Amino acid sequence: MKIAFFDSGIGGLSVLHHAMKILPQAEFIFYADEDNVPYGTKSPEEVLTYVDAAFQFLIAQGVEAIVVACNTATSVAVKKMREKYSLPIIGMEPAMKVALDTFPNRKVLVTATAITITGKKIQRLIERLHAENLAELKALPRLVEFAERQEFNSLAVEEYLRGELNYDWENFSSLVLGCTHFNYFKDTLRKILPPHVKILDGNAGTVNELIRRIEPTSSAKISSVEFFYSGRRVTDAIELARLEKFLRRLDEMEGLS
Ligand code: DGL
Repeated sequence: MKIAFFDSGIGGLSVLHHAMKILPQAEFIFYADEDNVPYGTKSPEEVLTYVDAAFQFLIAQGVEAIVVACNTATSVAVKKMREKYSLPIIGMEPAMKVALDTFPNRKVLVTATAITITGKKIQRLIERLHAENLAELKALPRLVEFAERQEFNSLAVEEYLRGELNYDWENFSSLVLGCTHFNYFKDTLRKILPPHVKILDGNAGTVNELIRRIEPTSSAKISSVEFFYSGRRVTDAIELARLEKFLRRLDEMEGLS
C-alpha cells in the first residue's frame, strides 16, 4: 500500500519522519512542490491549482491515501479535494486542541503562514474550541524561506524569531507550530521561549488519524520512500543528500517540545 505525503516543500518531511518511526514497513511517496514553494504568500486560488495538480499526479502513481502534510494546503484545498477524489485524504490541524486540553484557560500562540492565519478553517477551529479569547495568531513567513535553504539556526534566524516573538509569555502555555516547515527551528525556539512555554506540532495527530483511517498494511520488510519534486522523481545524488540532511535535522529536533 502506497501512502503519499504532500507539501509545498520540505516541511512535510517532518510528518513523514514521524510516520516512518510509527509505520516502519510502509511504502511512502513524498511529494514536495519545489517549483511553487512557498504557498503561504500566494493566493488561495493559485494554491488550489497547485494542490490539484499534485493530487492528479499522486493518484496516477497508484497511491491509496494522501496526507496533506501542509497546513496551508489543508486550509485552502482539503475540503475541495475530498469532494473531488474518493481516496482517504488526511490534513493537518494546528495542535490548538492539545494545548487547550493540557493547559485549560491559558493562552496559545498559533504560528503559521499568512494564508492559514487569515483562512476560514482556523477561525472555525477557534470557534469549535471556544478559544476566541485564548488563541493569538502569528504569521512567520520567513521561516519557510530559511528552512528551504537549510538555514536552521543562524544568527539571522534567531534575530528574526526574537523580533517576531516579542510577547508577554507569562500568559501563554504554548506555541503551536501551524506550519510543517517550522519543525526545523525547535532548538532556536527553545532557546528563545521561557521554559514553561511548550512547543507543540500536529505531526502525531496527523499520523494517528492516518492510521485510524486506513489501517496501513504492507508486505515490505522496511519502509521505503520515493521522493518527487513537483512531479519529477528525485534521483540526483545531490538532491537526495539534501533531503537526507533535512531528515537528520529532524532527528536532532526530535524530543524538543
Ligand atoms: N509547509 C506549509 C505549511 O504547513 C507551507 C509553507 C509554504 O509553502 O508557505 O503550511
